[in-house]
Amino acid sequence: MNDYDLLVVGSANADLVIGVERRPAPGETVLGSDLAVHPGGKGANQAVAAARLGARTALLARVGDDAHGRLLLDSQRAAGVDTGGVRVGGAPTGVALITVDPSGDNSIVVSPGANARLTPEDIRDAAGLFARARVVSAQLEIPLETVTEAVRARAAGSRFVLNPSPPRPLPAEVLAACDPLVLNEHEARFVLGDGGGDGGDGKDPEGRARALLALGARSVVVTLGAEGALVAEGGTAVRVPSPRVGAVDTTGAGDAFTAALAWRLGLGEDLATAAAFAVRVGAAAVTKEGAQASFPTAGEVAAL
Ligand code: RIB
Repeated sequence: MNDYDLLVVGSANADLVIGVERRPAPGETVLGSDLAVHPGGKGANQAVAAARLGARTALLARVGDDAHGRLLLDSQRAAGVDTGGVRVGGAPTGVALITVDPSGDNSIVVSPGANARLTPEDIRDAAGLFARARVVSAQLEIPLETVTEAVRARAAGSRFVLNPSPPRPLPAEVLAACDPLVLNEHEARFVLGDGGGDGGDGKDPEGRARALLALGARSVVVTLGAEGALVAEGGTAVRVPSPRVGAVDTTGAGDAFTAALAWRLGLGEDLATAAAFAVRVGAAAVTKEGAQASFPTAGEVAAL
């Protein structure tokens, strides 16, 4: 029996956010806005996004025994996420230093802290959560060996969704489980080993998606920002457009997209249908400041 529509295995960070007119060049200092502290982290963001949409959601993560950790746990609980799998202690809570410019674009540096101490043993200790999850979703702000153990811990028939962010080369065992691999074009180039270059076969998103399928992913979703997403599986690739919105802050929009996609796939929707819902969730998320604070309810998505 599936008690959880979605089990998110991933990071939880305190986001320290400063608005800037423009990002500083190397060696330069710029003045910014007052500092805002928000709950964030790609894993914690996904869990809140899914729960706010109505998914029965659990989070497996590690935070420090500190004020940032309590901020994160409070946000999860307020959204209705089951936090029984959140480990506390071992290192300070992860922190993300974020600048946001007037177009809503951001730059992020993450100090992993406790996220780096989420171990394969923590995954094995949470076997009960995996046994009850319809979909397991992970990202790469936790150790890769922990993500690999999450792949192995899944119950039979449980779907695995991976956002390889920040990107790094993926073992074949992980790639073969991804259904889908969800990534932006920069991440796609990196996973393909193109190191940010043009990418041989993959100059366009369709080419990159084909290359990622050939590398072993079961299905691929390339996110295209304001342009929506490209979904690819088998021999087909389909573009899914996004509604046009005024972007205020793009932080966490990709996490909201991935959470919505993973949830709807678990309900039995096909990839293109689930992505059509997810682009609306991502679009709604860029219209407000912050990550978790910006994630919409199902009603807000319907009204978009
Ligand atoms: O994807 C956005 C997230 O990336 C932020 O919340 C920050 O914590 C970093 O993990």
